[in-house]
Amino acid sequence: MTNNRTSLTITMPDDWHVHLRSDALLAHVLPFSTKHFGRAIVMPNLQPPVISTKDATRYQQQIQALLPQESHFTPLMTLYMTEQTDAEDVRQGYLSGHINAVKLYPAGATTNSAAGVKNIENIYPVLEVMEEIGMPFLVHGEVVDNDIDIFDREAVFIDTKLIPIRQRFPKLNIVFEHLTTKEGVDYVQSCDNNTAATVTPHHLVINRNAMLVGGIKPHYYCLPVAKREIHRLALVKAVTSGDIHFFLGTDSAPHVDHAKESSCGCAGVFNVANTLSIIAQVFEQENALDKLEGFTSLHGPAFYKLPINTHKICLKRSAIPLPLPKNIDTEEGSITVFDPQIDLHWKAENI
Ligand code: DOR
Ligand code: ZN
Repeated sequence: MTNNRTSLTITMPDDWHVHLRSDALLAHVLPFSTKHFGRAIVMPNLQPPVISTKDATRYQQQIQALLPQESHFTPLMTLYMTEQTDAEDVRQGYLSGHINAVKLYPAGATTNSAAGVKNIENIYPVLEVMEEIGMPFLVHGEVVDNDIDIFDREAVFIDTKLIPIRQRFPKLNIVFEHLTTKEGVDYVQSCDNNTAATVTPHHLVINRNAMLVGGIKPHYYCLPVAKREIHRLALVKAVTSGDIHFFLGTDSAPHVDHAKESSCGCAGVFNVANTLSIIAQVFEQENALDKLEGFTSLHGPAFYKLPINTHKICLKRSAIPLPLPKNIDTEEGSITVFDPQIDLHWKAENI
């Protein structure tokens, strides 16, 4: 395939990791996800967190109530793992089709993670059930120890937490969420197909300079933080190679501007408004547009053992760069849209 393509028709993508929030923010951000995505794995780190099947069902109803009648969008629900998580509730939630996965937040790792897990061994009984029933275990893969440098926290998590979990639960389906390092890429590629990783659009286009050069740029602060350029290049190489271990999870995580532009700003970028344009730009740049559909629309369903979407979308290339959406207004304040710092030429259209 050459770089002179001007349109690409693909199976409708899914977003395997998104923060839709709740209430007023949910109503504002949801339309950006439903526009071009068939399904999304909805993160449970609300306040209070979504910890039971009952909570998740209520949250799913809140989302569904905001969908237009003709919507093709399905929110796939997750539970927030705590040390008190009820393994039987997890089993029932999964087997009844209400819950698709359980998410591990190491306590203190990120936004609303205080109720997360301090001692991983305390969740082993739940992992045993998940392994038995084939339920995906989604991992925020960073250690939280104060003596571990924030840029090393992913690699240390792999060595000290993930490898022991994998050894103890060889059949557990694990998704390493928002992978950011070369060490992470190497680890995931060394695993069987029951280990996979989501990769975000922002980690494919920025490195840590975006956040730290020329002033502190809070709209590039997310967790895990963007790393050095060699890590970004490893991520780009992995996803554009067509490797089925990797699929798209936007980790779109909106916060109103005053919460980010603060002396203790929140982590997260709001990127669903331009995700597919960014992904197409990255794949075009690597001469890998033929691999894009796998990453956005095929590898995720294969891992989750779900059918691929029946709808299609079209990506169209404009000769001139597209205007970028700057922000959206909500009752709670403005939310800045992620600026990838590169020209975007590809626009997604429903067909
Ligand atoms: O940047 C992030 N924002 N990373 C996370 O893990 C959580 C998320 C959020 O909920 O804001
Ligand atoms: Zn997230």
